[in-house]
Amino acid sequence: MNHIRKAVFPVAGLGSRFLPATKAQPKEMLPIVDKPLIQYAVEEAVAAGVTELIFITGRNKRAIEDHFDKAYELESELEAAGKKALLEVVRGVIPKHVSCIYIRQSAPLGLGHAVLCARPVVGDEPFAVLLADDFMDTAPGQKPVLAQMVDVYNYERCSVLAVQDVPREHTRQYGIVSVTPYREGLETVSGIVEKPQPDVAPSTLAVVGRYVLSGAIFDYLENLGTGAGGEIQLTDGIAAMMKDERVLAYHYAGQRYDCGSKLGYLKATAAIGLKHPETAEGFRVCLAGLLDGLGAP
Ligand code: G1P
Repeated sequence: MNHIRKAVFPVAGLGSRFLPATKAQPKEMLPIVDKPLIQYAVEEAVAAGVTELIFITGRNKRAIEDHFDKAYELESELEAAGKKALLEVVRGVIPKHVSCIYIRQSAPLGLGHAVLCARPVVGDEPFAVLLADDFMDTAPGQKPVLAQMVDVYNYERCSVLAVQDVPREHTRQYGIVSVTPYREGLETVSGIVEKPQPDVAPSTLAVVGRYVLSGAIFDYLENLGTGAGGEIQLTDGIAAMMKDERVLAYHYAGQRYDCGSKLGYLKATAAIGLKHPETAEGFRVCLAGLLDGLGAP
Protein backbone atom coordinates (compact mmCIF):
# COMPACT_ATOMS: atom_id res chain seq x y z
CA MET A 1 0.00 0.00 0.00
CA ASN A 2 1.17 3.53 -0.78
CA HIS A 3 1.20 5.72 2.31
CA ILE A 4 2.14 8.98 0.62
CA ARG A 5 -0.96 10.72 -0.75
CA LYS A 6 0.03 14.36 -0.44
CA ALA A 7 2.85 16.42 -1.91
CA VAL A 8 3.87 19.97 -1.05
CA PHE A 9 5.36 22.27 -3.69
CA PRO A 10 6.94 25.39 -2.19
CA VAL A 11 6.67 27.86 -5.10
CA ALA A 12 6.67 31.25 -3.41
CA GLY A 13 10.36 32.03 -4.12
CA LEU A 14 11.29 35.12 -6.13
CA GLY A 15 13.51 33.48 -8.73
CA SER A 16 15.95 36.37 -8.60
CA ARG A 17 18.69 34.34 -10.31
CA PHE A 18 16.60 34.38 -13.49
CA LEU A 19 15.72 38.05 -13.69
CA PRO A 20 14.51 39.61 -15.91
CA ALA A 21 12.82 36.39 -17.17
CA THR A 22 11.10 36.01 -13.80
CA LYS A 23 10.04 39.63 -13.38
CA ALA A 24 6.43 38.92 -14.32
CA GLN A 25 6.28 35.11 -14.37
CA PRO A 26 7.11 32.46 -11.77
CA LYS A 27 10.46 30.70 -12.17
CA GLU A 28 8.57 27.40 -11.86
CA MET A 29 6.87 28.20 -15.18
CA LEU A 30 10.16 28.31 -17.10
CA PRO A 31 9.92 25.53 -19.68
CA ILE A 32 12.28 22.64 -20.31
CA VAL A 33 11.59 22.27 -24.06
CA ASP A 34 7.77 22.43 -23.89
CA LYS A 35 6.73 21.78 -20.29
CA PRO A 36 7.16 24.09 -17.31
CA LEU A 37 9.42 22.93 -14.49
CA ILE A 38 6.47 22.70 -12.10
CA GLN A 39 4.66 20.30 -14.41
CA TYR A 40 7.62 17.92 -14.42
CA ALA A 41 7.60 17.96 -10.60
CA VAL A 42 3.83 17.41 -10.51
CA GLU A 43 4.13 14.49 -12.95
CA GLU A 44 6.83 12.99 -10.74
CA ALA A 45 4.55 13.26 -7.69
CA VAL A 46 1.57 11.76 -9.53
CA ALA A 47 3.78 8.89 -10.79
CA ALA A 48 4.64 8.21 -7.14
CA GLY A 49 0.94 7.78 -6.29
CA VAL A 50 0.26 11.26 -4.89
CA THR A 51 -3.35 12.46 -5.31
CA GLU A 52 -3.32 15.81 -3.47
CA LEU A 53 -0.99 18.55 -4.66
CA ILE A 54 -0.47 21.39 -2.22
CA PHE A 55 1.15 24.49 -3.68
CA ILE A 56 2.57 27.07 -1.28
CA THR A 57 2.34 30.16 -3.45
CA GLY A 58 2.96 33.86 -3.18
CA ARG A 59 2.42 37.08 -5.09
CA ASN A 60 3.02 36.87 -8.87
CA LYS A 61 2.35 33.10 -8.92
CA ARG A 62 -1.10 33.14 -10.51
CA ALA A 63 0.25 31.52 -13.67
CA ILE A 64 0.80 28.28 -11.71
CA GLU A 65 -2.85 28.13 -10.65
CA ASP A 66 -3.95 28.90 -14.20
CA HIS A 67 -1.66 26.22 -15.62
CA PHE A 68 -3.30 23.48 -13.54
CA ASP A 69 -6.85 24.76 -14.10
CA LYS A 70 -9.24 24.29 -16.99
CA ALA A 71 -8.52 26.67 -19.90
CA TYR A 72 -12.02 27.17 -21.34
CA GLU A 73 -11.17 29.62 -24.10
CA LEU A 74 -8.09 27.74 -25.31
CA GLU A 75 -9.87 24.39 -25.16
CA SER A 76 -12.90 25.57 -27.12
CA GLU A 77 -10.69 27.17 -29.78
CA LEU A 78 -8.60 24.01 -30.16
CA GLU A 79 -11.77 21.96 -30.32
CA ALA A 80 -13.31 24.20 -32.99
CA ALA A 81 -10.10 23.99 -35.01
CA GLY A 82 -10.11 20.18 -34.71
CA LYS A 83 -6.67 20.17 -33.07
CA LYS A 84 -7.32 17.01 -31.09
CA ALA A 85 -3.75 16.14 -30.14
CA LEU A 86 -3.11 19.61 -28.69
CA LEU A 87 -6.46 19.49 -26.90
CA GLU A 88 -5.36 16.28 -25.18
CA VAL A 89 -2.06 17.92 -24.17
CA VAL A 90 -3.93 20.84 -22.59
CA ARG A 91 -6.54 18.66 -20.89
CA GLY A 92 -4.04 16.08 -19.68
CA VAL A 93 -1.93 18.46 -17.59
CA ILE A 94 -3.54 17.07 -14.42
CA PRO A 95 -5.20 13.63 -14.25
CA LYS A 96 -8.84 13.68 -13.09
CA HIS A 97 -8.22 11.81 -9.83
CA VAL A 98 -5.71 14.44 -8.64
CA SER A 99 -6.69 17.66 -6.83
CA CYS A 100 -4.80 20.92 -6.36
CA ILE A 101 -4.83 23.05 -3.23
CA TYR A 102 -3.25 26.50 -3.05
CA ILE A 103 -2.04 28.17 0.12
CA ARG A 104 -0.55 31.66 0.11
CA GLN A 105 2.67 32.21 2.03
CA SER A 106 2.33 35.88 2.89
CA ALA A 107 6.02 36.56 3.56
CA PRO A 108 9.22 34.86 2.33
CA LEU A 109 10.17 33.36 5.70
CA GLY A 110 12.01 30.31 4.38
CA LEU A 111 11.48 26.74 3.19
CA GLY A 112 10.63 25.49 6.69
CA HIS A 113 7.94 28.14 6.99
CA ALA A 114 6.57 27.28 3.53
CA VAL A 115 6.27 23.61 4.51
CA LEU A 116 4.63 24.59 7.80
CA CYS A 117 1.97 26.50 5.82
CA ALA A 118 0.79 23.09 4.51
CA ARG A 119 0.03 21.74 7.97
CA PRO A 120 -3.74 22.43 7.94
CA VAL A 121 -4.06 20.34 4.75
CA VAL A 122 -1.49 17.60 5.46
CA GLY A 123 -2.45 16.96 9.09
CA ASP A 124 -0.23 14.34 10.68
CA GLU A 125 0.24 12.09 7.64
CA PRO A 126 3.62 11.48 6.02
CA PHE A 127 3.99 13.59 2.86
CA ALA A 128 6.40 14.52 0.09
CA VAL A 129 8.09 17.85 -0.60
CA LEU A 130 9.30 18.63 -4.13
CA LEU A 131 11.38 21.66 -5.09
CA ALA A 132 10.58 22.18 -8.75
CA ASP A 133 13.87 23.86 -9.62
CA ASP A 134 15.64 20.60 -8.84
CA PHE A 135 14.73 18.86 -12.08
CA MET A 136 15.12 15.08 -11.80
CA ASP A 137 15.59 13.11 -14.99
CA THR A 138 15.54 9.33 -15.13
CA ALA A 139 16.41 6.87 -17.87
CA PRO A 140 13.68 4.97 -19.73
CA GLY A 141 12.49 2.06 -17.59
CA GLN A 142 13.82 3.68 -14.42
CA LYS A 143 11.31 4.75 -11.74
CA PRO A 144 11.02 8.51 -11.24
CA VAL A 145 12.98 9.68 -8.18
CA LEU A 146 10.03 10.41 -5.87
CA ALA A 147 8.53 6.97 -6.64
CA GLN A 148 11.86 5.40 -5.63
CA MET A 149 11.68 7.32 -2.33
CA VAL A 150 8.06 6.36 -1.69
CA ASP A 151 9.10 2.70 -2.10
CA VAL A 152 11.75 3.29 0.56
CA TYR A 153 9.18 4.99 2.82
CA ASN A 154 6.61 2.23 2.40
CA TYR A 155 9.19 -0.29 3.56
CA GLU A 156 11.11 1.69 6.19
CA ARG A 157 8.31 3.95 7.51
CA CYS A 158 10.51 6.93 8.30
CA SER A 159 11.55 10.21 6.68
CA VAL A 160 13.70 9.91 3.56
CA LEU A 161 15.89 12.65 2.07
CA ALA A 162 17.30 12.48 -1.47
CA VAL A 163 21.06 13.07 -1.37
CA GLN A 164 23.83 13.63 -3.86
CA ASP A 165 27.58 13.96 -3.45
CA VAL A 166 28.72 17.49 -4.40
CA PRO A 167 32.13 19.16 -4.76
CA ARG A 168 33.26 20.47 -1.34
CA GLU A 169 33.26 24.09 -2.56
CA HIS A 170 29.49 23.77 -3.18
CA THR A 171 28.46 22.79 0.37
CA ARG A 172 27.40 26.38 1.08
CA GLN A 173 24.49 25.94 -1.35
CA TYR A 174 22.87 22.93 0.35
CA GLY A 175 21.66 21.18 3.46
CA ILE A 176 24.55 18.83 4.23
CA VAL A 177 24.13 15.54 6.11
CA SER A 178 26.44 13.36 8.14
CA VAL A 179 25.56 9.70 7.91
CA THR A 180 26.25 6.19 9.17
CA PRO A 181 25.95 3.17 6.85
CA TYR A 182 22.58 1.39 6.75
CA ARG A 183 22.01 -0.68 3.63
CA GLU A 184 22.63 -0.37 -0.10
CA GLY A 185 21.67 3.10 -1.35
CA LEU A 186 20.55 4.16 2.13
CA GLU A 187 22.31 5.69 5.10
CA THR A 188 21.09 6.79 8.50
CA VAL A 189 21.29 10.55 8.96
CA SER A 190 23.19 11.41 12.13
CA GLY A 191 23.39 15.18 11.58
CA ILE A 192 22.18 17.84 9.14
CA VAL A 193 23.23 21.45 8.77
CA GLU A 194 22.06 24.19 6.38
CA LYS A 195 24.57 25.65 3.93
CA PRO A 196 27.86 25.11 5.83
CA GLN A 197 31.06 26.70 4.54
CA PRO A 198 33.29 24.12 2.82
CA ASP A 199 35.89 24.09 5.60
CA VAL A 200 33.37 23.18 8.31
CA ALA A 201 30.93 21.02 6.29
CA PRO A 202 30.54 17.62 8.01
CA SER A 203 30.55 15.86 4.62
CA THR A 204 29.92 16.54 0.94
CA LEU A 205 26.57 14.75 0.91
CA ALA A 206 23.94 17.32 -0.08
CA VAL A 207 20.18 17.14 0.29
CA VAL A 208 18.48 17.84 -3.03
CA GLY A 209 14.90 18.95 -3.53
CA ARG A 210 13.01 15.72 -2.79
CA TYR A 211 11.86 14.79 0.69
CA VAL A 212 9.44 12.27 2.18
CA LEU A 213 8.71 13.52 5.68
CA SER A 214 6.98 12.19 8.73
CA GLY A 215 3.96 14.29 9.76
CA ALA A 216 5.80 14.92 13.04
CA ILE A 217 8.00 17.48 11.25
CA PHE A 218 5.34 20.18 11.76
CA ASP A 219 5.72 20.16 15.56
CA TYR A 220 9.44 20.69 15.20
CA LEU A 221 9.07 23.42 12.58
CA GLU A 222 6.56 25.25 14.73
CA ASN A 223 9.01 25.45 17.62
CA LEU A 224 11.97 26.66 15.58
CA GLY A 225 13.53 30.08 15.61
CA THR A 226 15.07 31.57 12.51
CA GLY A 227 18.21 29.90 11.16
CA ALA A 228 20.65 30.49 8.29
CA GLY A 229 19.81 33.64 6.30
CA GLY A 230 17.25 34.75 8.95
CA GLU A 231 14.77 32.16 7.61
CA ILE A 232 12.91 29.23 9.15
CA GLN A 233 14.88 26.34 7.69
CA LEU A 234 13.43 22.93 6.85
CA THR A 235 16.92 21.59 7.57
CA ASP A 236 16.70 22.79 11.20
CA GLY A 237 13.29 21.13 11.60
CA ILE A 238 14.76 17.86 10.32
CA ALA A 239 17.75 18.26 12.69
CA ALA A 240 15.37 18.61 15.64
CA MET A 241 13.13 15.71 14.55
CA MET A 242 16.12 13.45 14.01
CA LYS A 243 16.75 13.33 17.76
CA ASP A 244 13.44 11.47 18.20
CA GLU A 245 12.83 9.78 14.83
CA ARG A 246 14.92 7.93 12.29
CA VAL A 247 15.75 9.84 9.09
CA LEU A 248 17.34 8.14 6.07
CA ALA A 249 19.49 9.57 3.28
CA TYR A 250 18.72 7.99 -0.09
CA HIS A 251 21.12 7.88 -3.03
CA TYR A 252 18.58 8.09 -5.85
CA ALA A 253 19.02 6.66 -9.32
CA GLY A 254 18.74 9.49 -11.85
CA GLN A 255 20.25 12.77 -12.94
CA ARG A 256 19.55 16.04 -11.13
CA TYR A 257 19.76 19.40 -12.85
CA ASP A 258 19.86 22.52 -10.70
CA CYS A 259 17.43 24.63 -12.69
CA GLY A 260 17.74 27.40 -10.12
CA SER A 261 21.02 28.21 -11.88
CA LYS A 262 21.42 29.34 -15.48
CA LEU A 263 23.94 26.63 -16.35
CA GLY A 264 21.88 23.86 -14.74
CA TYR A 265 18.81 25.06 -16.63
CA LEU A 266 20.69 25.03 -19.94
CA LYS A 267 22.02 21.52 -19.23
CA ALA A 268 18.50 20.26 -18.50
CA THR A 269 17.20 21.88 -21.67
CA ALA A 270 19.97 20.24 -23.69
CA ALA A 271 19.43 16.82 -22.07
CA ILE A 272 15.67 16.85 -22.69
CA GLY A 273 16.01 18.50 -26.10
CA LEU A 274 18.25 15.61 -27.15
CA LYS A 275 15.57 13.11 -26.05
CA HIS A 276 12.35 14.82 -27.11
CA PRO A 277 10.90 13.11 -30.20
CA GLU A 278 10.18 16.44 -31.94
CA THR A 279 13.60 17.98 -31.36
CA ALA A 280 16.14 15.18 -30.80
CA GLU A 281 17.40 14.82 -34.35
CA GLY A 282 17.49 18.49 -35.34
CA PHE A 283 18.94 19.56 -32.03
CA ARG A 284 21.75 17.01 -32.23
CA VAL A 285 22.75 18.38 -35.65
CA CYS A 286 22.46 21.95 -34.38
CA LEU A 287 24.63 21.29 -31.32
CA ALA A 288 27.25 19.48 -33.40
CA GLY A 289 27.31 22.45 -35.79
CA LEU A 290 27.64 24.97 -32.98
CA LEU A 291 30.47 23.03 -31.35
CA ASP A 292 32.15 22.63 -34.70
CA GLY A 293 31.98 26.38 -35.24
CA LEU A 294 33.70 26.85 -31.88
CA GLY A 295 36.47 24.49 -32.92
CA ALA A 296 35.43 21.90 -30.32
CA PRO A 297 36.54 18.31 -30.92
C1 G1P B 1 16.98 24.42 -0.27
C2 G1P B 1 17.24 23.81 1.12
C3 G1P B 1 18.57 23.08 1.13
C4 G1P B 1 18.60 22.03 0.02
C5 G1P B 1 18.31 22.70 -1.34
C6 G1P B 1 18.19 21.66 -2.45
O1 G1P B 1 17.90 25.46 -0.49
O2 G1P B 1 17.21 24.84 2.08
O3 G1P B 1 18.75 22.44 2.38
O4 G1P B 1 19.85 21.39 0.00
O5 G1P B 1 17.08 23.44 -1.29
O6 G1P B 1 18.06 22.26 -3.71
P1 G1P B 1 17.70 26.59 -1.65
O7 G1P B 1 18.19 25.96 -2.92
O8 G1P B 1 16.25 26.90 -1.68
O9 G1P B 1 18.55 27.74 -1.22
